[in-house]
Amino acid sequence: MLEGGVSLDEQVKALKEELRHAQKMSALGELVSTTTHEFNNVLTTIINYAKLGLRNKDTASRDKALDRILGAALRAEKITNSVLGMARSRGSDRAPTDLAKLVEQTLVLMEREMRKYRVQVESQLEPSPQAYVCGNQIQQVLLNLMTNARQAMSQGGRILIRIAPDPAAGTVDLMVRDTGQGIPSDKLPHIFDRFYTTKQGPDASGTGGTGVGLSMCREIIEQHQGKIRVESTVGVGTAFTLKLPVAKQEQHSSTPVAKLGIPTAESVSPAR
Ligand SMILES: Nc1ncnc2c1ncn2[C@@H]1O[C@H](COP(=O)(O)OP(=O)(O)O)[C@@H](O)[C@H]1O
Ligand SMILES: [Mg+2]
Repeated sequence: MLEGGVSLDEQVKALKEELRHAQKMSALGELVSTTTHEFNNVLTTIINYAKLGLRNKDTASRDKALDRILGAALRAEKITNSVLGMARSRGSDRAPTDLAKLVEQTLVLMEREMRKYRVQVESQLEPSPQAYVCGNQIQQVLLNLMTNARQAMSQGGRILIRIAPDPAAGTVDLMVRDTGQGIPSDKLPHIFDRFYTTKQGPDASGTGGTGVGLSMCREIIEQHQGKIRVESTVGVGTAFTLKLPVAKQEQHSSTPVAKLGIPTAESVSPAR
């Protein structure tokens, strides 16, 4: 017992709870800032092409300007729809979550950055059960992994995002693979350490070189009773895999109460 009758265990527990809360808040904050930034870019495009259209009276220039404005506005619509979708379906608590939808919403936000750095993004979304996760936090992990992947490909390259079920493990797996520089085997054991970084300082997008990203990813995944795995080959690329728990039937809020008593195919025990 320490002073005030609070045991060390209790203090650790309280601090962990505070950390969890802070992480939820920061995941949300980062999302708001990424989204606002993206939205601002769209507005800049609209404003510039509207000015261009006003300056040039010929039909061809005006058509081009209107075309670009329409493109930007449609993108803005996608962004707000995905944010609204997030707000509706995600509190700060864990809930059955469609990871494919989460990936799609995240890609909308990363589209411009990836194009800027000549990174092609491909996704393979296999039919999978919902995962029991806090969507905002998993999205934060995904943003971190994609930013790391992008930073590992200074000459551009490819990112593959794959979702696939692992029925034997009872998980849905989310993989982010890049064709970047890879991680030397002597560095690999350290990448999840807090403040471990091999980057020189903030990169052009201001997000590199703090060494916080992967340690936060690991903490978030561990809080979900999930696993994070990494495989890497120098000069070939790196793949991170998140193994996330599948949402159980009773965690589906949409499950009608009346149905619960009826045995389903999975819950029927073998005849003795
Ligand atoms: N996809 C990747 N390819 C190559 N190296 C990576 C990749 N992801 C992470 N790393 C390595 O792990 C280190 C730690 O990553 P992270 O915790 O996100 O910190 P930061 O990105 O701020 O350096 C990076 O500095 C880099 O050396
Ligand atoms: Mg990082």
